[in-house]
Amino acid sequence: MDIDLVNRQEAVSEKLQKFRREGGILLAIETSCDETAAAVLNAPRGLLGASVHTQIPLHRQFGGVVPELASRSHVERLGPVVRDALLKAGVTFDELDAVAVTYGPGLVGALLTGVSYAKGIALSKGLPLIGVNHIEGHIAANYLSYSELEPPFVCLIASGGHSHIVLVEDYGCFSLMGKTRDDAAGEAFDKVARALGLSYPGGPALEKLALEGNPNAYAFHSSLNEGEGFDFSFSGIKTAVVNLLHNAQQKGEPLLFADIAASFQRAVVNALAEKSVRAALACGQKKLALAGGVSANRALRDTMAARASKDGISFYCPEFRFCTDNAAMIGCAGYYALLRGETSPLSLNAVPALALK
Ligand code: KG4
Ligand code: ZN
Repeated sequence: MDIDLVNRQEAVSEKLQKFRREGGILLAIETSCDETAAAVLNAPRGLLGASVHTQIPLHRQFGGVVPELASRSHVERLGPVVRDALLKAGVTFDELDAVAVTYGPGLVGALLTGVSYAKGIALSKGLPLIGVNHIEGHIAANYLSYSELEPPFVCLIASGGHSHIVLVEDYGCFSLMGKTRDDAAGEAFDKVARALGLSYPGGPALEKLALEGNPNAYAFHSSLNEGEGFDFSFSGIKTAVVNLLHNAQQKGEPLLFADIAASFQRAVVNALAEKSVRAALACGQKKLALAGGVSANRALRDTMAARASKDGISFYCPEFRFCTDNAAMIGCAGYYALLRGETSPLSLNAVPALALK
């Protein structure tokens, strides 16, 4: 091996040992989908500064994320976003002690932008690098909002790409209890919103429309969601909405879209809340957390809180700014991983279908 690289490795492992003993300043980067984000932390839960640039206006005209446009926008924005986060934190590049970056799951080109940037900083400044699983980041968003929350607990992660019920046994140690067999909850929100003529991203738009509707106007059933296990299915509910719209259109019958939105939301929210509380009870956990973009949904937060308290379970959900994609949550998960002594090599690659360990 090149002598410079050997020297670098030794310097980096010394820095990691110091970081484990004394902590330090960590830069976190998130570019897995349509948010370019950076954050600076001085402890796992010590956020000094953060910056997020959302690409929503860019993708809205196409009704969804266009991967190639997402990658290009990350390339353009990541530098300014990182500098903004450092400025807010009052930290310079030379004061950094470690770098964390999302390396999966997500869009390959989008992930590669962040991974390449993080590797560049780690190499040029001689810093330890840690690749973070995006889902683990979402779970860690709860640590940023609740200083007292410690594993073990059960967590429902509901995002645009995932609907998982996970037992968080320890920091970085998970066991999967249930997941969607088809669409993710956020994906179903986005698709139904599109069928109702709402703009991207559909989740927040559908939630707003649902406020004006009757949640009991329609009963959208799913036998899997009403069954015993912890897996979900959302594509049947989505198809039921689409069929309802088509049939009414063919017959020229008027429909109240707000009632459809409210009833769809109720079906999804009830399934998510009921299964996650039952999962917590099944493994004897008295703590239940929510994470992922759909955790910004007020109906889901309120229903889960009420359902959990009925069984004496404490409920946690992140502040709104940590619900959708951000780098603070990646920094929190990455910080804990470094404290455990984990690092990633400079050969770290993007892993689009990365599973939770
Ligand atoms: O976690 P996230 O920002 O990105 C992924 O990792 O997928 O989640 C985005 C998803 C989208 O499907 C979006 O429609 C959904 O979260 N979402 C919502 C709400 N806010 C975001 N779904 C329902 N209600 C909301 N208020
Ligand atoms: Zn996400």
